[in-house]
Amino acid sequence: MDFVAAPRPELLQAVIAASPDSMALFDPRGRYLYCNAAGLVLLERALADVVGRTPREIGLPRDLIERTEAEIGAVCATGEPVHGEFAVAAEDGPNSAPPRYYDYVFAPVRGADGEIEALVRTSRDMTERRRAEEALRLRDRAIAAANGGITIADPHQPDCPLIYHNPAFERITGYAAHEITGRNCRFLQGPDSNATGALDEIRSALRDQRECHVVFKNYKKDGTAFWNDLTLSPVRDPAGRLTHFLGLQTDITERVEAERLLREQQEKERRLADLLQNALLLRPRPDEFDGLNVALKYQAALAESNVGGDFFDAFSLDDAQVALVVGDVSGKGLAGEYLKLSGYD
Ligand SMILES: Cc1cc2nc3c(=O)[nH]c(=O)nc-3n(C[C@H](O)[C@H](O)[C@H](O)COP(=O)(O)O)c2cc1C
Repeated sequence: MDFVAAPRPELLQAVIAASPDSMALFDPRGRYLYCNAAGLVLLERALADVVGRTPREIGLPRDLIERTEAEIGAVCATGEPVHGEFAVAAEDGPNSAPPRYYDYVFAPVRGADGEIEALVRTSRDMTERRRAEEALRLRDRAIAAANGGITIADPHQPDCPLIYHNPAFERITGYAAHEITGRNCRFLQGPDSNATGALDEIRSALRDQRECHVVFKNYKKDGTAFWNDLTLSPVRDPAGRLTHFLGLQTDITERVEAERLLREQQEKERRLADLLQNALLLRPRPDEFDGLNVALKYQAALAESNVGGDFFDAFSLDDAQVALVVGDVSGKGLAGEYLKLSGYD
């Protein structure tokens, strides 16, 4: 059996003295027996001013005195440790630092006969951890409140399953949390999801660990198709190693549908304009201008500001003259074009 020698008392004392956690030792009547350097910084007192005195005698703030006395009483009465937290506010002032937060445990120290001989209070500065937790909570709330889907997949598990999704992802897809977590996100795909090569792009981006953006068809739980605007990004640790993939999903079905309707409408308008304006064209008989072959130029006008159904054409004649044929249907626009042709522009 291995035998580990007990550390020398001086060594133990040195460890306690150097501990970044503050440590204060009390007798059962609430007098300080000892306080390490970190504890003295908190108390803003010297060791000699503390030892042998109670928190009340050294003039600590009232709430701290009352709390310490109550807790010493509770530990002595129950023999159980007491856990708590406290905040230390900086001095008031325009540029005063924010308060620092401490967690502590007040524990009994028993002698050889099992009686409580002393009490030790160990306090740890939790300010940085608390700030980090607050920042995480804030981020969690923002993610939960987001309108778009947010998903995280773990590429180190077989088949890269989803390990996180926000409520919006459930709303978009119609799937419940237990139907999502642990599955690869391809369960949203259907027969024409790769119609535009989106899946090929996703596969190559995931393979190369790079970001990609695709718009493709996905299907909700009830089978309804929707247009998914998906951005995938690799997430890396400080050493640059891939840890996760992040997915941002937006259902853009309404936008795609509106764009399709607009295109259809524009096509309809173009066909109608073509039909109406074409019917108004003057078509000279082939023998109308002797020796001249009249070419017709025509382009349907859609916007009002365009030459609405007007037309013109110019021909070089043998003796360096130019013949111009114009068809002014709506009475607008031709003047400008004519000036251009005449070289005045
Ligand atoms: C974080 C993350 C989110 C994803 N989100 C979707 C999604 O919303 N819809 C989808 O069809 N595929 C999504 N995918 C892609 C599929 O999970 C899968 O990578 C894709 O189908 C290509 O792989 P496969 O050929 O093995 O199916 C996502 C992938 C990752 C890593």
